[in-house]
Amino acid sequence: MSDLNNIALKILNNGKGILAADESTATMTKRLESVKVQSTAENRLLFRETLFSASGMTEYIGGVILYDETIKQLTSKKNKIPELISAMGSTPGIKVDTGAKVLAGSPNEKITEGLDGLRERLKEYYKLGAKFTKWRGVYNISKEYPSKLSIQSNAHALARYSSLVQECNMVPIVEPEVLMDGEHSAKECYEKTSEVIKKCFEELIFHKVDLKGIILKPNMILAGNKCKNKISNEEVAKLTLKCLKDSVPSEVPGIAFLSGGQSEIEATENLNLINKFNDTNFIMSYSYGRALQQSALKFWSQDIKNFEGTQKIFNQRAKMNSLAAQGKWSKELEN
Ligand code: 13P
Repeated sequence: MSDLNNIALKILNNGKGILAADESTATMTKRLESVKVQSTAENRLLFRETLFSASGMTEYIGGVILYDETIKQLTSKKNKIPELISAMGSTPGIKVDTGAKVLAGSPNEKITEGLDGLRERLKEYYKLGAKFTKWRGVYNISKEYPSKLSIQSNAHALARYSSLVQECNMVPIVEPEVLMDGEHSAKECYEKTSEVIKKCFEELIFHKVDLKGIILKPNMILAGNKCKNKISNEEVAKLTLKCLKDSVPSEVPGIAFLSGGQSEIEATENLNLINKFNDTNFIMSYSYGRALQQSALKFWSQDIKNFEGTQKIFNQRAKMNSLAAQGKWSKELEN
């Protein structure tokens, strides 16, 4: 088995998943301001260090995606953040894209940037301890979107990124996120997501990416948040599985969903049903940002020195998602 495949499996095996703590400073500022905490480098670190040193990290979190600022920060005990994550038994990773910008030629859509100088940045992150990376392509749905231009150009970028990351001996997380914003139906989400993922794999294969050494991070198949015809959680799980079965090559070891604006419970419940119905060989786990951090952040904001209380909430969320990644979650366990 290749080293990259081993890293991917170590991150996702045994009901473990990923904590996406790679919010850019701008996004983290929004999150902190929403709970009335000032967004300083110290506060951003304090919240993140509180999570990274929680006991739930060891049992439930196989990998943590960091942001450039965090991977270079030192903990309160003057240790390096990637060392703290490794010492907890998890794996440090890093977001390497530089954000989604307006797509020239289709200004209502986005293209993710960050390829220039990427090889050099990857070497630096590898030295800092990163074992895996993330790049997010983002697509919105409407009658005319995502356009062929957006699907093609984001797939191309994801593939170029992935081959550079593997060249540097790290596992690329390939994240094509079809947003849930809008009035679209679940059927439209299914069709567009299938098209997006298929194009990504076409480009990954063309760019000679070793599919055994990647993790796919897709959205679940959901009706748009402004759609009047919501579907049941069972239907979400079944459509999501059908979509992935039809569009993901069997070599891919694992799939780790983003939460994408679902509530914490919804993200857990849907993941649990996906695993209950999972008739594929793919590991189906989580790479959640908001759905792992929301309650912990709210609690922490009341008293930013209350490490234990914050960790308790985070541990519980991580445990619930880990159970869901094995199809063993139920609502009663939430209380
Ligand atoms: P959410 O789970 O909050 O969607 O974040 C995951 C992520 O990493 C988005 O890029």
